[in-house]
Parts: sequence; structure tokens; C-alpha cells
Amino acid sequence: MTVRAILKMGDPRLLRIAKIVTEFDTDELHLLLSDMLDTMVAAGGVGLAAPQIGVDLQLVIFGTGEPSARYPDAPPVPRTVLINPHITPLPRSAADATLVEEDDWEGCLSVPGLRGLVPRHARIRYTGQDQFGDAIDRIAEGFHARVVQHECDHLIGRLYPTRMRDLTRFGFTDVLFPGVEVDDE
Ligand code: NI
Repeated sequence: MTVRAILKMGDPRLLRIAKIVTEFDTDELHLLLSDMLDTMVAAGGVGLAAPQIGVDLQLVIFGTGEPSARYPDAPPVPRTVLINPHITPLPRSAADATLVEEDDWEGCLSVPGLRGLVPRHARIRYTGQDQFGDAIDRIAEGFHARVVQHECDHLIGRLYPTRMRDLTRFGFTDVLFPGVEVDDE
């Protein structure tokens, strides 16, 4: 097990379009995932994308399987390995086809110490593969949907500040939320 260094905003490796994973269930892939999990846990994050440790592959992990400190009432996000993901925004319900966005606060392990208010699709379908090459096909909403969108943005070189619409809602975590323990994506 190895905790890897997390790249910070400004590093050009965070701006690449990540490459598709073509080989599954290999020792190399399992080792990489093990390192990513150790790194995410050590940093207290709820998600980590391979580009954040300098690996140029379409591979993210997220979820702790436990209630989030920030969203204690939301269902826990299942611990997930998601490879070659694709996200489709979904309307809130079958009765109303309008796509809904929600604003909420995000942090990022590559943007330490800061928080920003970021619009995200409230409900999505996400597909991809796990580390064995088996299909993943899920519908998610709220915090779960937000984490998936945040992590998958890392695979197309987007960090959350580039998704913000109001930079007056961007600041240091300890100033915005004094005394509150928060986790990062
Ligand atoms: Ni992030």
C-alpha cells in the first residue's frame, strides 16, 4: 500500500483528457486502485481520480460507504471503482422532463483549503466498468450525483472552479465554515 502525492491545481497534468482503460483485472490495475484508495483515505477525501496522482487514465474511485460529514442525512455513497465513465443528466421525474441543476459547496483534494459553490445536475445516470470489466449502470441524485460529476470532470481536465458561475462564492474553508469539519472530493 502506498499513499501517493496528490497533484495541485496549476499542474498541467490535471488538465489532460484522460485515456481509456483497455485492460481489466490486471495486477497493475489492482495495485493502482489500492494506492488510490490509500491516498483518498489518508487525505480524508470522498473521491479521487487517477489524474490527481498523475495517472492519465479514465479511472475514478469515490464513496466511503458511510454517511458524509457534510450530508449526514443523505444515503451513503457506495464505495465505487468507476472506469471509462459516461454521464447522462436525467430529469427529476418522469412527469417533469426539465433538467434540474443544484448549487452546493464542493472542495477538492487538488484545491486544498478552498470551497466553492458549484452547479451540478441534480440527477444523473452513470455508466462505465469496474476493475474487472463488469458493467456499472446506476442512477444517482443529490450528493452521490455531485461526487460522480466532480470526479469525472477530473478525466476531462476540469477542476470545480471552472464550473463555478459566481466567484464571490469561492473562499477558504476555515473562513466560510469556521469550526466545521468537511471532506473533499
Ligand atoms: Ni477533485
